[in-house]
Amino acid sequence: MKPSALLARADRLLRPAVVRLPGGLAVRLYSAGRDRFLKRLVAEGEALDPITPPPELARALWGIQFRSPLGNAAGMFKNGQGYALCANQGAGYYLAGTTTAHPRPGNRRAGVTRPFAPYPRSGAASNWLGLPNDGHAAVAERLARVVRDQRIDGCPIGASLAASPGEDEDDQVAGLLDGLRRYADAGVDFLEINESCPNTEDAGRSWDPLADLRRRLERIAEEFLVGPGSGGSHPPVLVKLSVDTAPDQIPALVALLSELGYAGIDLGNTSTAYAARRRAIAPAERRLYDRFALRFGGGVSGRPLKETSLELARAGVEAAAAARASNSGRETPELHVLRTGGIETGADLTASEHAGIALDGWFTGYFEAFAERGHGLYRMVYEEALAVLGSS
Ligand SMILES: Cc1cc2nc3c(=O)[nH]c(=O)nc-3n(C[C@H](O)[C@H](O)[C@H](O)COP(=O)(O)O)c2cc1C
Repeated sequence: MKPSALLARADRLLRPAVVRLPGGLAVRLYSAGRDRFLKRLVAEGEALDPITPPPELARALWGIQFRSPLGNAAGMFKNGQGYALCANQGAGYYLAGTTTAHPRPGNRRAGVTRPFAPYPRSGAASNWLGLPNDGHAAVAERLARVVRDQRIDGCPIGASLAASPGEDEDDQVAGLLDGLRRYADAGVDFLEINESCPNTEDAGRSWDPLADLRRRLERIAEEFLVGPGSGGSHPPVLVKLSVDTAPDQIPALVALLSELGYAGIDLGNTSTAYAARRRAIAPAERRLYDRFALRFGGGVSGRPLKETSLELARAGVEAAAAARASNSGRETPELHVLRTGGIETGADLTASEHAGIALDGWFTGYFEAFAERGHGLYRMVYEEALAVLGSS
């Protein structure tokens, strides 16, 4: 067994006890340990024997080949590292970022840098990282090298970007456009605009977030998707929203994205509905959960989002079909729905497949699965998915 897998397995045994330690010790330990662990994992990933997903899982979206529907969610490889790891483990795609126009160190409060807490009994976590990243320019340069030297067929490369928190709208749009162009020039296959980070100075700032979102998306569409700066062709651009998005808003949001020329919607990002998600947190972990929410806020990820992400993404698929019907005759790009939130097993992939969801992203479940299966984690999920599909 490789050292990272061994470490993750040992941590899996200890974690249920560690998260019950008093005085915020668990948050300190896991916040400090995450980056170190990830560095080790990425380095180890370069030399793995590659795993190829079963061919039955392959699909083509926007004219791009995906070996499988499952890849990492944004935020795991914020600075464009880890492509070889994902490709060798058998991912169906790789997503870098989220990056912003300027580098950010991330959040720090109460002596904790980039706070994170896992809830192992619940398959969940909280984080208040605050979009730490090296900035669009540095990461686009890194990805250009990955595209040139490492990209393999069937494992496309995406980049996630967000507006710089705290800036006024003109600067935010300019920064986003600069990032989109840099990544397009770097040769990435698809782009995702993260419109949903709960962990920055912008969270909760606006009185009318929907109107702000619409305006920003319109301006980006004018300049990048169809306007003179678009250069005629560009990678497909998706928009990622929170899993806290109200289901009844999905039809209007999808219709807007379709009309403006966006290529997809990803549902979604972490939740700040702390009271509602608390029901899915094991009683033994609620003390840490409550403490984290009170001290940092942040976003809840993992199993507590599973049902919601499926429900929202299913509504997204229906809305996309309706948008296609009403756009018939007009030239609009393919619009696909991605599901992120609570993906951890083959049964989750199958549920997405049955709902017409094009791709799935995992973050919290990835680390749980890695602790169980090490670098064979994608293979494990694929085998489970094929077994469920075969028996249904
Ligand atoms: C530590 C951490 C950092 C994250 N950073 C980002 C990010 O930079 N950009 C983003 O769009 N989502 C980010 N997310 C959200 C994930 O991409 C994903 O949407 C969310 O965790 C739900 O998926 P999961 O249940 O599989 O974890 C982050 C999540 C976690 C746990």
